[in-house]
Amino acid sequence: MLKLMQSESSKNWSLEEILSACDWKDQAIAVGAGLGLSNVGLVNIEETVETVIRLSSQGTSAMGDGLLESRLWSWICDNEGADMASLQQSFERHEAGPGVGLLKRIGVQLSGGKFVAQEPSQVEKVISERSNFLSNLPNLVENLNSEMLEHFRGRKGFIENQDTTTRTWNITQLGLSVESELLIEKEMVAEITPELLQSDNWKDAEFRSFDVTLESATPRTGRSHPMQALIERIRNIFLEMGFSELVEDYVQTAGWNMDALFIPQDHPAREMQDTFYLDNPAKMELPDEVMDLWSGIHKHGGDTGSVGWGGDFSKDTSQKGLLRTHTTVNTIQYLAENPSKPCRMFTVDRVFRKEAIDRTHLPEFHQIEGIIMEEGANLQMLVATLKTFYHKMGYPEVRVRPAYFPYTEPSLEIEVKWRGKWLELGGAGIFRPEVTEPLGITSPVLAWGMGLERLAMLVLGLDDIRQLYISDLEWLRNQPII
Ligand code: PHE
Repeated sequence: MLKLMQSESSKNWSLEEILSACDWKDQAIAVGAGLGLSNVGLVNIEETVETVIRLSSQGTSAMGDGLLESRLWSWICDNEGADMASLQQSFERHEAGPGVGLLKRIGVQLSGGKFVAQEPSQVEKVISERSNFLSNLPNLVENLNSEMLEHFRGRKGFIENQDTTTRTWNITQLGLSVESELLIEKEMVAEITPELLQSDNWKDAEFRSFDVTLESATPRTGRSHPMQALIERIRNIFLEMGFSELVEDYVQTAGWNMDALFIPQDHPAREMQDTFYLDNPAKMELPDEVMDLWSGIHKHGGDTGSVGWGGDFSKDTSQKGLLRTHTTVNTIQYLAENPSKPCRMFTVDRVFRKEAIDRTHLPEFHQIEGIIMEEGANLQMLVATLKTFYHKMGYPEVRVRPAYFPYTEPSLEIEVKWRGKWLELGGAGIFRPEVTEPLGITSPVLAWGMGLERLAMLVLGLDDIRQLYISDLEWLRNQPII
């Protein structure tokens, strides 16, 4: 192609000219060759885009059967004195209504129940202009009457745009300076096929190189939602650290969600504004032995040496059904069932709280919960475990601060440094004897519960948590792979 173009240095070559002069059949070859030359500055490409208006489905059928307004008008002319009722008998409902509307706009009225036009010739003129317009398609947009174009653009499915790009190529100074003896024709393999590999031809073949630095369209394929991808990554980290996953129900009793965790029955967080209590099941039966144990602990500390919270304990309150407010409800039940087997468990799952939705709050969110129960487990091990987790997530700066939870002692808050600021990501601690002793647990239990969405905000650099749950395809496509 370059050799050809060198022969006429100031010519603008059209596609047809290049195809015939190079003896190519496929226009993609010419376009590809031209692009290759232009990428290295040997030719210039000039592109012009032309817009052609063509018929689409409705337009095509109107060309066959006639425009709706034209068919209705002929019928009215053939049936003098016709009224709406008889028109509705001759035309389907989906045609009669819109058709009458179209006619009204070009001067046909219903007067005294009959269709009449002040100026029948005017009606006919408009109708024939419209038909002519359609029969002139396809056509370049600049050749068409703009009023008619506007009209048919407003009617669904009549016409559509088709853009065609026309290119011409001309040689640059650099292209002219290439010595023509250096321009030799070589056959190169651009695609590796099974046939090529089966034969021996590949041994001597020359392969075309690709310039991987050129811009190209980003392939759009299906992928995991960033939230799902993040959950997967967290799962892998805990599995790698020797933990097992626990998956349990959302629907739980207040007893396991709160009483078992020594959260006093008059604690403000138990009130309606924080917890979603259920109408169905409003009550879930719990064994009396379990509730009696909690009751003893809450009222006077049971056999733990604690003095408890004092006051009353209501079994009805314990048996209320709710949507779990934290995943600790599941780890505590796991411990109740396995009180003496050392374990490392984690869950990444959904919890519910009556929160007003804003930039940093959602009523449904996820917690990353975990426990370690084993002889000799201590605070240092807890901190080290959390630090290891965040380190593996890519956040090496982690600190803990004293905090309070009714079910742990000591209790701490975990903070991670992000963009120079400390952000609180969750709570942790060692379960109190009021929690573990009634269940028959004798080894220390380290526990934590951290926000997943908070972490997602860091990983994805979000300043609004809601972004995670609106299906914004453009945003989703542009998310990094995590
Ligand atoms: N359950 C606490 C919360 O929801 C977090 C936590 C879990 C704290 C385990 C201490 C121990 O915030």
